[in-house]
Amino acid sequence: MPIIECENLYKSYGKKDAPFILKGVSLSVGEGEFLVVTGESGAGKTTLLHCLSGAEMPTVGRVLFFGRELSALKRAEADEFCRQKSAFVYQSDRLSENLTIAENILMPRAFRGEPTQKADALFLLESLGMERFADRFPNELSGGERRRIALLRALSVSPKVIFADEPTGNLDRTNSMRVMESLKEYNQKQKSAVVLVTHSEECAAFASRRVMIKDGMIF
Ligand SMILES: Nc1ncnc2c1ncn2[C@@H]1O[C@H](COP(=O)(O)OP(=O)(O)OP(=O)(O)O)[C@@H](O)[C@H]1O
Ligand SMILES: [Mg+2]
Repeated sequence: MPIIECENLYKSYGKKDAPFILKGVSLSVGEGEFLVVTGESGAGKTTLLHCLSGAEMPTVGRVLFFGRELSALKRAEADEFCRQKSAFVYQSDRLSENLTIAENILMPRAFRGEPTQKADALFLLESLGMERFADRFPNELSGGERRRIALLRALSVSPKVIFADEPTGNLDRTNSMRVMESLKEYNQKQKSAVVLVTHSEECAAFASRRVMIKDGMIF
C-alpha cells in the first residue's frame, strides 16, 4: 500500500500567474521503498520533496499522506501530522547554531514531546563514528560533518519516511557512502521509506526505484 500518493500535482510560487515548477506530477511512495529522484538543477526536485512532505502545499492537485489529504487539513494540523510520520534532511543542514550537536540531534524529539536523553544522541553519533562532537557547536564542524549531523537528527525520531535532499551534497566519497549506507540500513531495518534527491549515480544505485524529473515532469 502506498504511504504517499500524489495525483496530477502542479506547483507555482508566489503570484497567481507565476509559471508552474511542477507540471502534472503523479507519484506514489510505497512502504519501505527507497525512491531516488534525479534531475538537473532547477528541474523541481526540492519542490517535489517539499510538496510530498507537506512542507509546501501544491497549487493544483492533492497529496495523500498516510491516507490523509493534506490540503484538507489546517496548516498547523498538517504540520503536526507530517511531523509525527516523517523527517526531512534539507539541502542546507539547518542546524541550530546555539545548540550543541547532541542537542541538535535531539531537537525533533523535543518537538514531539519525546524523551531527550543524551545517551540516545551518543548512540546515533557512534553509528557514524562522531561521538566526539556531542558537546561541540555546529560552527566548530566542517560542512560535511554538519551534513552527517543533519542526517542523524532526522533518524532520531525513527520516522516512517525520510525525505533527504542531496544529503551527500558536499561530502567526499567515503562519507557519502557512509551516509547512504546509514540510510539504507535504516530503510531495511525499520521498513521506513526513503525519498532521496541526488546528482550522484553512485548514490542513486542505492534505490529500489528511481524517477527522473525534467522541467517539472516525471520520467
Ligand atoms: N520559494 C520559491 N519561490 C520562487 N521560486 C522558487 C522557489 N523555490 C524554488 N523556486 C524555483 O523553482 C525551480 C525549481 O527549484 P527546485 O529547488 O525545486 O530545483 P531543484 O531541482 O531542487 O534544483 P537543485 O538541483 O539546484 O537543487 C527553480 O527555477 C527555482 O528558482
Ligand atoms: Mg534542490
